Amino acid sequence: MSTFTIDTATSRATPSPVPGKRMTAPSLRARKVDGKTEQPIVALTAYTMRMAQLLDAHCDMLLVGDSLGQVIYGLPSTIPVTLDMMIAHGAAVVRGSWHALVAVDMPFGSYEGSPEQAFASCSRVMKETGCAAVKLEGGAAMAPTIRFLTERGIPVVGHVGLTPQAVNMLGGYGARGKGAAEAKKILEDARAVADAGTFSIVVEGVMEELATEVARAVAPPVIGIGASAECDGQILVTDDMLGLFERTPRFVKRYGNLAEEIGKAAEAYAAEVRSRDFPSAEQTYRPKS
Ligand code: KIV
Repeated sequence: MSTFTIDTATSRATPSPVPGKRMTAPSLRARKVDGKTEQPIVALTAYTMRMAQLLDAHCDMLLVGDSLGQVIYGLPSTIPVTLDMMIAHGAAVVRGSWHALVAVDMPFGSYEGSPEQAFASCSRVMKETGCAAVKLEGGAAMAPTIRFLTERGIPVVGHVGLTPQAVNMLGGYGARGKGAAEAKKILEDARAVADAGTFSIVVEGVMEELATEVARAVAPPVIGIGASAECDGQILVTDDMLGLFERTPRFVKRYGNLAEEIGKAAEAYAAEVRSRDFPSAEQTYRPKS
């Protein structure tokens, strides 16, 4: 895939004319044909305009994950994340991208009450952000809601396995599907949300063999996180894979070490401020001679 050059000097988040066509729910769904995906779906989380700009050309999907609760806001879980937070960050990510499909996570409490509640929340998210899809957690219990949404024009990404919004029911963030009964339930959940019309499904934090089985069992592409290389695509929390945190889960591979880079830059800046080497002649306004 080609990469695009962004002129940040203009401060324009989305270049005009737009240099390409955005991925759509049908185009991503169509990646998987007769149970096979030739070109795995590349997905990452994004919460800000600038990060969206940097990731967009390399990704098929940018997820405005409710993980922003912990990553951006320092919250203890995704439970306190609000619809207003998701909308503010979703709109920023849409403004910073033009190639990847942008999906916005529905926060806890905004969709579980009824299909009507879900439609009201999701339609608000779509109107106010310009995103092309929403993601919601849950298996068979959420299937009627997913059907209600998809029949009314809202593309849905499902999310089964480890569902962080259910942390208080699950008792932690450990891998799911270790026992036969739980593995069967996760497989049934994936089938139920697939049948309800999801165009792709995130499977998170499950045993590798089960993730592979889920990917083979359902028609839409399955995007893994802490899952299996046999999935139809992969997603990671960008801040984890960039090495912005000291501690990352076992399933994360670090492709950068930005925490160290940022620390070094801040240290150098602090030293130059203290020694009065910054700002120098190059960074100060003087009368033209
Ligand atoms: O919120 C999030 O970032 C997610 C991904 C981990 C899939 O749901």
